[in-house]
Amino acid sequence: MSTTELPDIGISSGIERAAARGAGAGDGDGEWWRGAAIYQVYPRSFADANGDGTGDLAGVRAHLPYLHDLGIDAIWFTPWYPSPMADGGYDVADYRSIDPMFGALSEAEDLIQEALALGIHSIIDVVPNHVSSSHTWFQAALAAGPGSPERERFWFRDGVGENADEPPNHWESEFGGRAWSRVVRPDGVPEQWYLHLFAPGQPDLNWDHPDVRREHEEILRFWFDRGVAGIRIDSAALLAKDAALPEVTEAHDPGSHPYVDRDELQGIYRSWRRIAESYGADRVLIGEIWLPDADRFARYLRPDVLHSAFNFDFLTAPWEAGKLRQSIETTLDVHARVGASPTWVLSNHDVTRPVTRYGREDSGFAFDAKRFGVPTDLQVGRRRARAAALLAMALPGAYYLYQGEELGLPEVEDIPVDRIQDPMHIRSGGVDPGRDGCRVPMPWSGDQPPYGFSPGPVDTWLPQPDDWSALTADAQSADPASILSLYRDALLIRRTHPDLGSGSFSWLASSPGVLAFRRGASFGSITNFGSTPAELPDHDQIWLASAPLEGGRLPADATVWLRLSSD
Ligand code: NOJ
Repeated sequence: MSTTELPDIGISSGIERAAARGAGAGDGDGEWWRGAAIYQVYPRSFADANGDGTGDLAGVRAHLPYLHDLGIDAIWFTPWYPSPMADGGYDVADYRSIDPMFGALSEAEDLIQEALALGIHSIIDVVPNHVSSSHTWFQAALAAGPGSPERERFWFRDGVGENADEPPNHWESEFGGRAWSRVVRPDGVPEQWYLHLFAPGQPDLNWDHPDVRREHEEILRFWFDRGVAGIRIDSAALLAKDAALPEVTEAHDPGSHPYVDRDELQGIYRSWRRIAESYGADRVLIGEIWLPDADRFARYLRPDVLHSAFNFDFLTAPWEAGKLRQSIETTLDVHARVGASPTWVLSNHDVTRPVTRYGREDSGFAFDAKRFGVPTDLQVGRRRARAAALLAMALPGAYYLYQGEELGLPEVEDIPVDRIQDPMHIRSGGVDPGRDGCRVPMPWSGDQPPYGFSPGPVDTWLPQPDDWSALTADAQSADPASILSLYRDALLIRRTHPDLGSGSFSWLASSPGVLAFRRGASFGSITNFGSTPAELPDHDQIWLASAPLEGGRLPADATVWLRLSSD
């Protein structure tokens, strides 16, 4: 239960909350993204205004007041462009348009402006590693045939072996299976192979080609011109390839793996940085960079490269004091070295929802460990998810939250297999449940599907569970003990408390299994990972707690925010 006591800093009513919000992009609010709360909207599953069972931009526009009231600074929109949806929109057919199932370009422009009027910035997703196989460039390459200039924008190669029926190398797709597919001509004759690090519907672009670079620079300008404040860069460490296409071995020097984290990427992003900066300090480039090596990760965050990157080390860490402390320390250290602002992420559209993950015996996240039927204790998971949110929101830097995280939605793990659409599931031969379980349409109101997601009864694109009536935004809004109320209160404190934001960070002494830190002059955040209640440090006031205190002590799997006594 959240103690709904808010800090005595003059913010209590909705009107005052609104007044406490920052100005919009272009209004001189500088590097707003450094400490922002950024909400990820997965448009297909956020809200459906036209009643077809799939979310759309009109649905997002109708829920802007909800997002404003939640207290976020920006929305990150996962891809909204025309797409055959071979990978949920990460197979982009046209960057300068909106998929008709979501709406029209003019609606996206209106949405960006309407959000801005509420002080909410927009971040769009750009997917530079690949395009859709229905993109005009790829279609032209297929039509033009082997050896054509059109094919040079991609990675087409002849096959090997007597009948050229073996792929050019043994690279594997991130979704399982081989990373090459063979083109079959309309008359049925097989010819060259093309590279796709993801699904066959996502051919990889050749970043050595000047057209590819120019096109992406124009795409950035296209959206910056429309008032977009940031670009989330998909698969940002995979774009550059060794043109010799050597086999992957264990022994690549840093920066020279055939396709992961190659040194050439730095130059690509430097040119993107110049474009972003030409629009002002309020424009931000955010990399999706999964790299285990903290030093290599930091290179992307140097002052002339990207501004920011998702913190996957933190996101994947299990619910353990030691592991999370280590992740926090590494994060702060790595970012301090290059003057970048850390990010704190608990969920997104690719990973198991925290409520489910934290209820498992192994509460870390790994793509290759996802299986059907792994037991979880949702009650434990819910407590931990609440505690984790307060822990993460008190850390210095930006906080990312994924739609439905604020409602405490669990992963939906029993989607009928014939309804699963994620290529990760399909390409694993049905072994991996895939990512659809965190992409189920949002429950807004009512006591049965579609829970206000669509205006009337309809079969939503992924089915919703029958037992979500208590999880709807409406049901939770009325309940001060709900996780939605906790998020609203926490985000309000986070954006208004003078010790958060750019306030200093230091660890406080604590017993084993407890993480305690001070922000600024007097803000304390304490999380108890142990199984017995923990003593609190001396304090004058409790701002917020993820669970009721027990006799003045902090119960297991809980976080409390305090005003520390000045001794
Ligand atoms: C990362 C995105 O987050 C994921 O959803 C997508 O499948 C891959 N990149 C490929 O674009």
